[in-house]
Amino acid sequence: MTRIPMAQPSWDDDMRKAALQTLDSLHWVKGPEGKAFGKEFSEYCGAVQGTPCQSGSVALWGALRLLGIGPGDEVLVPSLTYIATATCVSLVGATPVFVDVEPEYWCVDPASLEAKRTTNTKAVIAVHLFGQMSDDVIVDWCRQHDIAYIEDAAQAHGAVSTNGIKAGGVGDVACFSFFPSKNLAVGGEGGMMMTRRQDLAARMDALVNHGRDARLESHELGSNLRMSEVSAAIGRVQLQRLEGWLGRRRNIAARYHQAFSKLPGIELPEVRPGTEHAWHQYCLLAQEPDNLRSALDAADIDSRVYYATPCHRQEVYATHFQHDEIFPVTDSIAHRLVAVPIFHQMTDKQIERVIQAVVKASHQGE
Ligand SMILES: Cc1ncc(COP(=O)(O)O)c(C=O)c1O
Repeated sequence: MTRIPMAQPSWDDDMRKAALQTLDSLHWVKGPEGKAFGKEFSEYCGAVQGTPCQSGSVALWGALRLLGIGPGDEVLVPSLTYIATATCVSLVGATPVFVDVEPEYWCVDPASLEAKRTTNTKAVIAVHLFGQMSDDVIVDWCRQHDIAYIEDAAQAHGAVSTNGIKAGGVGDVACFSFFPSKNLAVGGEGGMMMTRRQDLAARMDALVNHGRDARLESHELGSNLRMSEVSAAIGRVQLQRLEGWLGRRRNIAARYHQAFSKLPGIELPEVRPGTEHAWHQYCLLAQEPDNLRSALDAADIDSRVYYATPCHRQEVYATHFQHDEIFPVTDSIAHRLVAVPIFHQMTDKQIERVIQAVVKASHQGE
């Protein structure tokens, strides 16, 4: 019996061909593939422009630079997220101000924002956690207070919000990661900045290229954040497959939902009504996470806890003013969110093995 991993990158003949053709063309950087990938993915998301870059972390840094956020500014971020959501704020010299998440959907809780708003608040980074769209109410709240809305869509390729807009097309700027475990990957590290604002589009392309124009004059601080042409060529082929892959992920999630709906000691991930989840992760809220994980391990199935230590409690934020603040929801669920394998290549047999292992483990705890 082979072990079931958490994720598996996709690689096929079309991707291999695209990569080799790009290498053979000797056009390895700043070429047509990156331009086409940015255009095609932003069109898919319903945004005005996409600019490929080297990672999701870099995309977040770029988003903050684009919006002119820096020292003295505050950015509201959830503490239940990957650390890059917070550290990008620190890296531009601004202060991440942590907020709690919703008890049902685990994304930024709109009700937690107002108490943390000050005259220095310049943006919210809403993380579409595990592929679940954040509440669109936050978009309106941001508009009302002239605060920028940044989507951390690193885990949400293909998720759809309540008003039918895809992740990436909702915020002032959106940021994607193409890390190999993500719903869409590029054969290495990769990310994309995306915007629906015409006024940010041209600067976004310049930012990944030292803020330079066609005459090679630098107008603002940027760096070399460009994605390689080979990666972009692979990403373009993966994009053609994305909707099919999402269909399979949704099908697996539906089967898990049905099988796990009445298990003792386990709560299911809820889907925000009117949205479509991208199921980057399928997390169970377990009463006894260690027992569940040991049982999965014994059945040769990988699992993860997301995120055992919330960002504000990490050592990197030891001197942050909120290091000891209690966030009732985040603190009570962070260490109990157990992700089980979900990826489009999973076979029916593998899905069945995960189901049986979870069902057995939950009854052992009774
Ligand atoms: C929510 C979130 N934000 C940001 C990132 C950073 O992306 P990358 O690893 O491509 O830098 C990730 C990646 O795991 C993520 O999950």
